[in-house]
Amino acid sequence: MEKRMIETSYTEEDQKIEGSLRPQRLDEYIGQDNIKKNLEIAIEAAKKRGEPLDHVLFFGPPGLGKTTLAGIIAHEMDVNIKITSGPAIEKAGDIAAVLNGLQEGDILFIDEIHRLNKQIEEVLYPAMEDYAIDIMIGKGPSAKSIRLDLPHFTLVGATTRAGLLSAPLRDRFGIIERLEFYNAPQLRTIIMNSAKILNVTVDDEAALEMAKRSRGTPRLANRILKRVRDYAEVRHDGVITLDIAKTALDMMNVDKAGLDYTDQKMLRTLITGFGGGPVGLDTIAAAIGEDSGTIEDVIEPYLLQNGFLNRTPKGRVATQAAYDHLGLEMPVNRD
Ligand SMILES: Nc1ncnc2c1ncn2[C@@H]1O[C@H](COP(=O)(O)OP(=O)(O)O)[C@@H](O)[C@H]1O
Ligand SMILES: [Mg+2]
Repeated sequence: MEKRMIETSYTEEDQKIEGSLRPQRLDEYIGQDNIKKNLEIAIEAAKKRGEPLDHVLFFGPPGLGKTTLAGIIAHEMDVNIKITSGPAIEKAGDIAAVLNGLQEGDILFIDEIHRLNKQIEEVLYPAMEDYAIDIMIGKGPSAKSIRLDLPHFTLVGATTRAGLLSAPLRDRFGIIERLEFYNAPQLRTIIMNSAKILNVTVDDEAALEMAKRSRGTPRLANRILKRVRDYAEVRHDGVITLDIAKTALDMMNVDKAGLDYTDQKMLRTLITGFGGGPVGLDTIAAAIGEDSGTIEDVIEPYLLQNGFLNRTPKGRVATQAAYDHLGLEMPVNRD
């Protein structure tokens, strides 16, 4: 299957540049002002008390800056960060080993934390609450549990949907923050900063055009910048003007609202195949050949946020804006 230009999850292509583009400090992190304010206070208070920061949970669609924030917290707290992910931890012994290897004050970052299995979650409860783990020694009737103290650490979890986290795990986070899509001026600033680091000249209007088509997502903004730069270098003198940006973006099939082929297909199918809805998630997923989880995590949030789609108890419904955007006529008697 062809890879989406607007694929917001992390790809190999991003890996090459993201390291250098990732902000290190809270004041270099653009947008998400509420989160920044809350973190700033929590970090300062923890430092004053000489204690580790409360456990933090970040949730929101891919590419909005969750991993970046985890790194920033470590930087601002001046501690080490150990990075792992839900799917990477298979057995209770794996998580016990990770926890045991931490130093006082360290950050443990667990990406895709909703994918931890129940058994591992249960090891985490006392670890998060009492900085201890219970280990079973021996087998059968003579087996006994001993408690092992852990260094005081901060768990930072990231997930695309907080709803997928079990309630007992969610309740153990002192700070829970939801990341929002970025507006065009914020993305323009991110693009301008990245352009400086990558040594590319970008006209102001060109930066705004790329920002508008970045689907509210910094990861995409950086990827678009990189692709447009390639185009500008090969076809022109390397300077990114508005015309060059527009042409390159059109070639990538990213439309004016930042929708790509898959977004358009979802809306078009909803409208032409199902009279605009309401239609259930699984039905639409089967119709467009996408996984329903991907639709919920990646495709829908942006369409909902931008008013192209509504979620009703009966299913998904295309809005007037969706019809307008695709240049389709909305039937008068649609309910
Ligand atoms: N607020 C921000 N300011 C500047 N750049 C950002 C910001 N958030 C994300 N980025 C950029 O986007 C990239 C993807 O962010 P990341 O933290 O990996 O997203 P997530 O973990 O939510 O999928 C980062 O490498 C960084 O370059
Ligand atoms: Mg991440």
